Amino acid sequence: MENIKYSKPLVYDIEAMQNLVSPEVEKGLILYRTPSEMATTIRSYIVAKDQGQIIGFVALHIHSVTLAEVRSLIVKEEYRKVGIGQNLVKRALDEASALGLKEVLTLTYHKSLFEKIGFHEIPKESIPEQKIWADCIRCKHFPICDEVSLIIKL
Ligand SMILES: CC(C)(COP(=O)(O)OP(=O)(O)OC[C@H]1O[C@@H](n2cnc3c(N)ncnc32)[C@H](O)[C@@H]1OP(=O)(O)O)[C@@H](O)C(=O)NCCC(=O)NCCS
Repeated sequence: MENIKYSKPLVYDIEAMQNLVSPEVEKGLILYRTPSEMATTIRSYIVAKDQGQIIGFVALHIHSVTLAEVRSLIVKEEYRKVGIGQNLVKRALDEASALGLKEVLTLTYHKSLFEKIGFHEIPKESIPEQKIWADCIRCKHFPICDEVSLIIKL
């Protein structure tokens, strides 16, 4: 998929990003974020586009001076399994590294994808409390959640 372009989104892209994510939000795989919430954090996102259309994205959320989190990873169904998800995560890691962060965490149902990039599983108790209270508590699977937490050192 050499024609896929990766870039930072504009606020005008939020509507397309929300449309892309809505089936996964309904399944409870991705947390719903309002347009305002997405606008506030627009700089954290990286989008993948095919001929100008958004077909995937990821967010890099900073928790502390050392720790960031990869979250909201999504790739449009017909574009899956060709490496776009991994490319998005790798670009988020490059950004984290450029910012001087030391570790990147993720909570996911897709453990193998992250392990292929170099993440390793850690106990859920290692997740920062602010993550639990800001995000997990809004999830329909909270507190019984099958996601695993993984981390990578940069
Ligand atoms: C999770 C998700 C983002 C993955 O996106 P993706 O673009 O399919 O990811 P990749 O193509 O990089 O990797 C997916 C699989 O395809 C494999 N793959 C990648 N390139 C490949 C290629 N050229 N040929 C064959 N297989 C390939 C990967 O090794 C990976 O295998 P795995 O499932 O055994 O780990 C996508 O499935 C999705 O949007 N799911 C719904 C939302 C969701 O669950 N998000 C996760 C939140 S953490």
